[in-house]
Amino acid sequence: MSNVRNLINITDLSLAEIDHLIEIADDIVAHPEMYNEICAHKKLATLFFEPSTRTRLSFEAAMLELGGSVLGFSSANSSSAAKGESVSDTIRTVGCYADIIAMRHPKEGAPIVAAERTTVPIINGGDGGHFHPTQTLTDLLTIKRKKGRLNNLVIGLCGDLQFGRTVHSLIEAMLRYENIEFILISPDELKVPDYIKEEMNKAGVKWREVTRLEDAMSELDILYMTRVQRERFFNEADYIRLKDSYILNLDKLKTAKEDLAILHPLPRVNEISVEVDDDPRACYFFQALCGKHIRMALILFLLGIK
Ligand code: CP
Repeated sequence: MSNVRNLINITDLSLAEIDHLIEIADDIVAHPEMYNEICAHKKLATLFFEPSTRTRLSFEAAMLELGGSVLGFSSANSSSAAKGESVSDTIRTVGCYADIIAMRHPKEGAPIVAAERTTVPIINGGDGGHFHPTQTLTDLLTIKRKKGRLNNLVIGLCGDLQFGRTVHSLIEAMLRYENIEFILISPDELKVPDYIKEEMNKAGVKWREVTRLEDAMSELDILYMTRVQRERFFNEADYIRLKDSYILNLDKLKTAKEDLAILHPLPRVNEISVEVDDDPRACYFFQALCGKHIRMALILFLLGIK
């Protein structure tokens, strides 16, 4: 049996391993000079069959800052997938060129197939509406740095909770911490899928659904905003009807706690007004920076570099 570790779902990591990654990420910030050659001669491949700014570029920046190199493609059209090559064959090939692979694919489960076809570690950078575990690690690091804890939190998740893979992964992760409460804020059409509700019930956490952001705001320690994702809709009319369901502005924040942390995986479209960006509670660009630090830690961990 292979000892290779992959990251397909956030539950592939124990809580102790997540704590360890957070510690490494903090140490990287404290002592960058100790890490800037640590991946010399190692190569990261980023295979993005779907568009990305933060995930792909933060992975590449992470590997470069560790002294390694990067190769890959940023769209299916610029790879032999455009000629009909299967994910399996692409991964088997790239496994001959790289030491570790980060991939994003529109099909749920594609990274599982990939992990069966190569002996190099596979990192899921998002698979369809399924999971996005490195975004979750990013979110956990951001919450830890901003709130000083990952327990005793009321977390509001707002927007597209049906297709939002960042939301599904974050809920899965937070279910393992003590005294977490979720308030799920979405239109009826974009509610969290039933299997996530079953997992929340099984874990015994407190949760409720509301349709108005105002009905949750004053209770929240974390507000996790998400984009209504045009690319996940089959019907453009439904997208147009739902896309501006929630627009966070300074007026809506009037009832919020002073130490609320507003997160968003980004990209945003209209769901957070730019006037909120200068509010001290806005953490989403800091979150993007945390994404690079935690991906540096993850690369070291999966490559087994101490
Ligand atoms: N948060 C996130 O996954 O952003 P990108 O789609 O830009 O990678």
